[in-house]
Amino acid sequence: MFLTFEGIDGSGKSTQARLLAEHLRREGHEVILTREPGGSDGAEEIRNLVLQGDPDRWSAETEILLFTAARRDHLERTIEPALAAGKVVICDRFADSTRMYQGLSRGDLRGLVDQLHNLMIGREPDLTLLIDMDPGTGLSRAKGRQGAEERFEDFGLDLQQQMRAGFLALAQEFSDRFRVVDGNRNMDSVAQDVTKVVMMALR
Ligand code: ADP
Ligand code: TYD
Repeated sequence: MFLTFEGIDGSGKSTQARLLAEHLRREGHEVILTREPGGSDGAEEIRNLVLQGDPDRWSAETEILLFTAARRDHLERTIEPALAAGKVVICDRFADSTRMYQGLSRGDLRGLVDQLHNLMIGREPDLTLLIDMDPGTGLSRAKGRQGAEERFEDFGLDLQQQMRAGFLALAQEFSDRFRVVDGNRNMDSVAQDVTKVVMMALR
């Protein structure tokens, strides 16, 4: 089973991915918890290139190539071997993030994102949990982390709003694999919903 978490910055994806991994391990599943961009040595190196520096460091087109290159490495070296060994893979962001951030934020490049995805990745998750979140709250939570990886957070509230709407539209487009969870609540309530949705899917 290949599970992904999606949503705007600061929506609680990493927190929920970790809680879900802990829950599934307690239930006896072998779980690989991973993230994008990153999740393999090469992809983590690309992560530093795309998440640090000025917002205009890369064009949207170059970013599509970099994120897809990172994803290909992650898929070959981490995700596919784990799935082949019968493990549950939980990934914090995947191709839907490229459809949103590179596909929407600087003009309509969704067609290009999809073409490259079909050519180089060609795999969708079995289940995607969209943690839906108020953009202002998400941004202040993300800003609260104070790290070096702020390239996208520097795009500001407008982008967060656009991404939230985009993710909700994507959940309708791929309604067979997407489930939307309300992230504007305490961690435990959100985690309970996440667990419920995943247990139904694992049956
Ligand atoms: P994301 O991976 O989506 O950016 P994180 O899981 O890293 O989000 O959460 C961002 C920040 O918000 C962290 O400091 C985290 O502890 C906090 N946080 C996560 N979920 C909640 C929640 N339900 N309520 C309040 N704070 C939360
Ligand atoms: P992440 O570490 O998940 O940030 P956060 O915890 O704040 O949600 O991801 C870092 C940034 O990378 C995030 O702002 C979204 C962006 N991103 C893309 O633009 N395209 C992609 O394909 C992926 C996977 C992430």
